[in-house]
Parts: sequence; C-alpha cells; structure tokens
Amino acid sequence: MGLKYFSLIIYFGLLIACTAEKQEADQNALSDTLYHEQHRPQFHFSPPRNWMNDPNGLVYFDGEYHLFYQHYPDSNVWGPMHWGHAVSIDLVHWENLPIAIYPDSAGYIFSGSAVVDEKNSSGLGTGTQPPLVAMYTIHDPMKQQAGRNDYESQGIAYSNDKGGTWTKYTGNPVIPNPGNERDFRDPKVTWDEGSGQWVVVLAVKDHVAFWGSSDLKSWHHLSDFGTSLGSHGGVWECPDLFPLQCTESGETKWVLIVNINPGGPNGGSGSQYFIGQWDGTTFSPDADFIPFVTNEQGVWLDFGKDDYAGVTWSNAPLSPDQRLWIGWMSNWEYATVVPTTAWRSACTLPRELRLVHTESGFRLASDPVATLQQLRQQPLRTAPGVIDSILVLGKVPSMFELELDLQLPESGDFSVGLILENDSEESYRIGFDGHSNRFYSDRMAAGDHSFSDRFASAIHTAPRQSDSRHLQMHLYFDVSSVELFADDGSMVLTEIYFPSAPFSQVKLQAKGEPVKLSEATIYPLQSIW
Ligand code: FRU
Repeated sequence: MGLKYFSLIIYFGLLIACTAEKQEADQNALSDTLYHEQHRPQFHFSPPRNWMNDPNGLVYFDGEYHLFYQHYPDSNVWGPMHWGHAVSIDLVHWENLPIAIYPDSAGYIFSGSAVVDEKNSSGLGTGTQPPLVAMYTIHDPMKQQAGRNDYESQGIAYSNDKGGTWTKYTGNPVIPNPGNERDFRDPKVTWDEGSGQWVVVLAVKDHVAFWGSSDLKSWHHLSDFGTSLGSHGGVWECPDLFPLQCTESGETKWVLIVNINPGGPNGGSGSQYFIGQWDGTTFSPDADFIPFVTNEQGVWLDFGKDDYAGVTWSNAPLSPDQRLWIGWMSNWEYATVVPTTAWRSACTLPRELRLVHTESGFRLASDPVATLQQLRQQPLRTAPGVIDSILVLGKVPSMFELELDLQLPESGDFSVGLILENDSEESYRIGFDGHSNRFYSDRMAAGDHSFSDRFASAIHTAPRQSDSRHLQMHLYFDVSSVELFADDGSMVLTEIYFPSAPFSQVKLQAKGEPVKLSEATIYPLQSIW
C-alpha cells in the first residue's frame, strides 16, 4: 500500500472518529437541555419533541397507565397525526415510548380510546393475556381535499404485548362514515356492564352518537344526544361516557363529557359535561340538570382557557366513586403559535373526578392525583393574620404548590388574590372578587403574548359555586402554567403563560375589606424530568 493511500485511510479514520465524537457531544448536549428548555413544564407531561394535542387511548393495564396522544413527530405545529405514547406507574413520572400508531394511506390517526378486551370478545388476542384494543378516527385528507363529506370513519388496532406494539385491524373501518357527516370522530369505548355490550360515544358535529357492539368489530347505532342541550358555540369533540358513584349517598349517575371548540367559558376550547342516566341505549340528563344546559348554557369541568379534549382512563384500579381524567393544556385559539420550541403543548395534571351533591343537583369536583405529593419538598408556612393590602409570602422556586385558607368578610366589598412576580417586572394575578362573586386569572402582564391577540386580551373569570365564608384555594404553579382547585375542587381553572424569566416571588393582596388568612403553605416541587 502506498503512502498516499495510507494517509487517506488515516484521514478518513480520523474524520469518522471526529464525526462520531461530535454526534455524541451533540446528543449529550441535547439530553442535557431536553426537558429543561425555557417554558418547559417540569411536573406535567409534555412530549420530548414537537407537536402534541389531545390525550388518547387512556388505559390502565398490568401496573401501567398508558397515555397516548395526538402527535406530529416532524414539526412543532399540527400535521399528519400519529399516536405518541408514554407510560407511568404513578401518574407523575412518565416514560416516553416509541410512536404507537402511524398514519397510512387510509388517513391520519385522530383521537380515540383504548380498552382491555378482558374476555377476548374481539378474537384479536393471541396470547394468555387479554388484548388491548384501541379505537381511533381515520381522517382521510385526500377525501377531504377532494371536497367529499365522508372523510372520517372509525378504525381499531390491537396490541398483544401490553401496549408496546400495535397492529391495525384488517377489517377497518369498523364504523364507516354514514356518508355525509363531516365531523364524525373521537370514539370513546367503554364496557357497559348493565347492557352487557361495548358502547362507543362519538362526536358528530353538534351532538354525540352512541353505538353498541359485542365484539368491538361490528357496531350498530343506538341513539343520539345533545342537539338542543348544552353549549353549541362550536363543534362537539372528544366525548366520554362513564358511571360514577356519589361517595356520600351511594347513588350512581352517568357522566357524559363533551369537549367543544370554540364556545368554551372564556373563549375558544372548553370541556362541558352532563349528568344523568344511561339505560343501555340512550342517555337522558337528570331533570334538575336540564335547566343548567338549556338556552345554550354549558356546565363546565374547567373554567380556564387551557384545558381541552380531556377524557378518562379505562380499567383504572379505582373504586366506583372515582374516575381518573387528564386534559390537553392549551386552546385551539393559539395552540400552534405559543412560544415554545423543541416541543409544543403539555397535558394538565391527572385529576380524580368525584360526584358531589349540591343545591343544584349532582356536579363533578376534581382533585389533583394524590401521588403528586411525592414531589413536595420542605414546606414554607405563613402564620395566620389579616391581609389589608399586600402580604409578601416569600421567594418561590419556578415550580410550587400553594394551599391557601381564607376567611372572607361578610360584605362582598373585597377582592383577594395572589400575585406572582419575576425580576423582569412581569406579573401574574389569580384570586377571587367578592363584588362579582367570581374567581379571576389575569395573565395580561405575565410575559410574552405577542404571538396571538386572543391570548391575553381579557381577564378570565369563573363563577363561585359555594357561598361559604371559608375560601380554600389549592394551586399548582409549573414553569408556564397554573391550575387552581377552589372550594374542594368544585371550581377548577387551568391557564398557561410565558414569562421571560421564571416567577420568583409570591404576594397576597386584598382590596376593600380586609381578609383573614388562616393558613398559607407553599411546597416547592421537584421536577419529574
Ligand atoms: C380535538 C381534535 C379532535 C381530533 C383531533 C385531531 O382537539 O380536533 O376532534 O380528533 O383534535 O388532532
């Protein structure tokens, strides 16, 4: 071998070694910054990279909570939909897994659900364990572009390895489009013990449709609900139907969740629900619930702007008076332009839904899942006192939980709330106003909102249900979001914001009559990433 060739070999050898080294260094740099980018939620689920919207296929199996989600892996805006996949054993820490279901020539994989087919009614199980069966909407963009109306139908896929890999059923679609339904999507399947059948609820533009099946493969239409009840400010999407027992009375009601976009309580996307009876064929709202959902009114699960497409886990190991729920923490008004790179959007905290009896009939209340308490660090407590102007609670890390117990004045002449501030003179305010009897969330000065004139054009508000003088507010602040659970979870408000530097100080402020502080506890929270 001549010297020339020898030198060339050395040269290419070195080049390959250097490139491999550089790639490794890049990878390390990426994994150092991954999940620590500006605005990245630290104790909420968000995809490692690129776009996500709705949570999908929520199912518990063999010790794992599966979270699939609407995902476009090639960009951080919406595109051809896949089902991304993560699992958790505690609903707090998440392990990212490979994409579960890919789009193909039949269409994109839109939202849907998953169940454990315990008795292998579908015959799709091959092993000793029952198969997991997912049902999703096949959205055909070619048909849509061609101006046809029948571009959405429902398909199934199954897994015989605990949700690790998924095979599309060859007989898809299992529910073809009736021919003219432009919005015909988001199947949520459940086993209905009472009627001994699988039931799926589908969103169909301005109502939901129920279908039944004995094998998850052949389906027949049961009934429709909702054209003249509830909020109709937009298209109905992502429904869910499940029974829930009231802990106190032992009564069981059926809950029908219907997400809607636009038409939410503070504009854009929102989640409404109905409470009533399910007889195996039809859903009928309770008589005392109907007045609250007539004349275009909705009863809302969350009053903030950033909680959409929420649905519940099937097969979760819970008692009949509990149901596990999670939503997408954004709003279609601005979801695709919020100032985050590497990833876009996160889920809300997982929540436990409860059925509570109120003067207006049964309602849902929400609690953050109890397993979140493992993230708490040494608490900071503020002694009881009276707030008559500003009370500094102290320096806070960018992630913390705050429990606040207040004694409100008898007159309505007051407002009380929290102010979060950073060193860039940005602030976020959240609290309760006695005059209007409404909670408020003000992100108008909380950082960047230049990306959309819909993001911070107004203070967002929510009615208080309770008339107690004792006001309890439980809040979770992540780097770029807040979730408020007030009055034992009877009012929930979720919002996102984008401060240029993390909020680092929290104050309490009262205006008008002084407000008594019974207790304020701040728990700094650890990151899950
Ligand atoms: C809700 C939704 C669903 C649809 C999916 C598409 O956010 O519009 O109705 O299945 O997103 O990504």
